[in-house]
Amino acid sequence: MNFPEIKNLEERYYANVFGRLPVAVTHGKGIYLWDVSGKKYLDCFAGIAVSSLGHAHPAIVKTIAAQAKELIHVSNWLYTIPQLELAKLLCKISGMNKAFFTNDGTEAVECALKLAHRMTGKTKFISTRGAFHGRTLGSLGLTHSEKCRKPFEKILKYKNIVFIDYNDCDALRNAIKDDKKNNNKIAAVILEPIQGEAGVVIPGENYLPEVREITKENDILLIADEVQTGFGRTGKMFAYEHRGVKPDILCLAKGIGGGFPIGACLFREGLDFEKGEHGGTFIGSPLACAVSKAVIETIIKDKLIVNSEKQGRYLLENLLDAGFDARGKGLMIGINTNDGKKKVMELIEKGILTIHSENTVRIIPPLIIEKQHCDEFLGKI
Ligand SMILES: Cc1ncc(COP(=O)(O)O)c(C=O)c1O
Repeated sequence: MNFPEIKNLEERYYANVFGRLPVAVTHGKGIYLWDVSGKKYLDCFAGIAVSSLGHAHPAIVKTIAAQAKELIHVSNWLYTIPQLELAKLLCKISGMNKAFFTNDGTEAVECALKLAHRMTGKTKFISTRGAFHGRTLGSLGLTHSEKCRKPFEKILKYKNIVFIDYNDCDALRNAIKDDKKNNNKIAAVILEPIQGEAGVVIPGENYLPEVREITKENDILLIADEVQTGFGRTGKMFAYEHRGVKPDILCLAKGIGGGFPIGACLFREGLDFEKGEHGGTFIGSPLACAVSKAVIETIIKDKLIVNSEKQGRYLLENLLDAGFDARGKGLMIGINTNDGKKKVMELIEKGILTIHSENTVRIIPPLIIEKQHCDEFLGKI
């Protein structure tokens, strides 16, 4: 099938939601993807920071085949070992106490909202301007983008959201002060340690530690949404480690499964649901959990977090040297341009895949990227 035929199929049969790039992919290997015409691309966005091991990684392929032969799904009426082993591994690497699995990032945030309300009895949440936390009717309330929220404002589940400026602790203090005058209803503050969809917004060094201090002082839970920043993306396993803080609740997805759909909500000691308060048919399936465990173990065994820091630094330094207006942490880099869409299209012509948030071109490649790939990217941009 050629590209115009594929485009026609989409227009006729698929919901009108995606503003896609004009590339139809057939297969991938390592950091490269190929389209229907046989053109090869360097993948510099990894399916939006997801395919941390690149494409067709042997550890993922082997685990999917082996686990599918044993068991794919039984539901949570029964125990399965891969689910509990993954929960144990996640708690070990994060220092959190318990895990709940989800199918994606928005469900991880939904879980965090329910848990925060359940544990505090409070109904209000603080989110930040620019934040993206998902598109289901709870998490959408925390997502700041007007384009995502506005058409559905009347049916949002949580209307009790206060948006404050990101990277502004005085705004947080003021919001809490106002809340105290109004019966003290704030259950939690939710934020991304680095805002991803907003275009790689990196807060000041003291922001996270100060937010942690303020939330602790005021008995408010801190939910870190590391759906995008987790699993080595920023040069640490989790981005909160850069600042030595620990959240009460941690939302994860994207890189956790290397492309297999799975997410997780982790929480500290003292927080938990009662039986029956949360659940889901597909969540924590043996297949998803076995793949996720293989992905995390490969990230650790192949030292991909160190690689993320090293290649990220190399990319950023070279971009800055070449005069680009860029910023980043590990392999999460944003480049300001005059026209983000135009730059992404220009790079597609040259065989490089990136995405953009308005005029910020985002470089979020697989963690397996090597120097030669960075040079290929730098040569073409
Ligand atoms: C920080 C953050 N939270 C939540 C989500 C929602 O995740 P999903 O698209 O898997 O539902 C995203 C997606 O981009 C995200 O970047």
